[in-house]
Amino acid sequence: MQRVLLTGAAGSIGTFLRRELAGVYPELILADVQPITDLGPGETFLPLDITDGDAFTRACAGVDGILHFAGQAGENTWEDIRAKNIDGVYNLFEAARIQGVKRVCFATSNHAVGYYRRGARINTEMKVLPDSRYGVSKAFGEAIGAMYAMKHGVGVFMMRIGNVSETPVDRRRLSIWISPRDMAQLCRIGLEHPEIKYEIVFGVSDNDRTFYDNSNAYRLGYKPQDCSEDYAADVLAADPLRNPDDPAEIFQGGAFITAR
Ligand SMILES: NC(=O)c1ccc[n+]([C@@H]2O[C@H](COP(=O)([O-])OP(=O)(O)OC[C@H]3O[C@@H](n4cnc5c(N)ncnc54)[C@H](O)[C@@H]3O)[C@@H](O)[C@H]2O)c1
Repeated sequence: MQRVLLTGAAGSIGTFLRRELAGVYPELILADVQPITDLGPGETFLPLDITDGDAFTRACAGVDGILHFAGQAGENTWEDIRAKNIDGVYNLFEAARIQGVKRVCFATSNHAVGYYRRGARINTEMKVLPDSRYGVSKAFGEAIGAMYAMKHGVGVFMMRIGNVSETPVDRRRLSIWISPRDMAQLCRIGLEHPEIKYEIVFGVSDNDRTFYDNSNAYRLGYKPQDCSEDYAADVLAADPLRNPDDPAEIFQGGAFITAR
């Protein structure tokens, strides 16, 4: 992997990934609608609006792998979700196909499967149960990625991310947290593993309270370094149990369940 395109590079996860992947790839192209000026060695900034398909295709010229993190990162109007997470994602896979990009690593979400109950332990073979318009757009991303993998031979790595932060921030996120360095490790597997055609993994650290059977990630060599339990006592003390009859407490998707 010589040349990697990171979309959404100015965002929360993009910023973590720049830190964690510094020096790993000779050329890291940072694409976003927001400017980035603090460039490190090997980094270049490329202004890109992913809703512009021709611009996305030009951005992928000579690119070996894409880390796709640009888009709408939570619930919003359908117009906004459709522009960034439906049309923008179609543009992503078309650009990859046209330019012969070998790998696309895609930031899908726990919200594609947010309507499983918290007591369930789910795996990547189970049906999608999106909890929001946002979750539906992530299920779309997983589906269109599968089509481009099967029909056009693009290697596609779907990371169903829980929540990326330095430390887990509340009770629910003890179950779905992923540290920045574990997130970067998953991205490296997605870009570098020699055998990926189409895979779905959960983007979570090694959490005792996990909602997920992440054996597909482990099969591909994922060895998470972090565990939310190290922070559990402090998190639980600051986040007492809420109303157990609240749908946001019953289902894995949390507040996305009750968002309208
Ligand atoms: N943060 C998490 O824990 C989490 C969890 C699950 C999935 N995800 C997914 O990971 C991705 C990144 O999440 P994040 O938290 O870093 O979000 P973020 O909102 O912090 O970053 C998104 C970035 O995308 C850029 N962007 C928005 N519209 C764009 C467009 N039209 N063209 C180009 N760039 C555009 C924004 O400027 C921003 O820098 C999103 O797809 C999100 O759905 C994030």
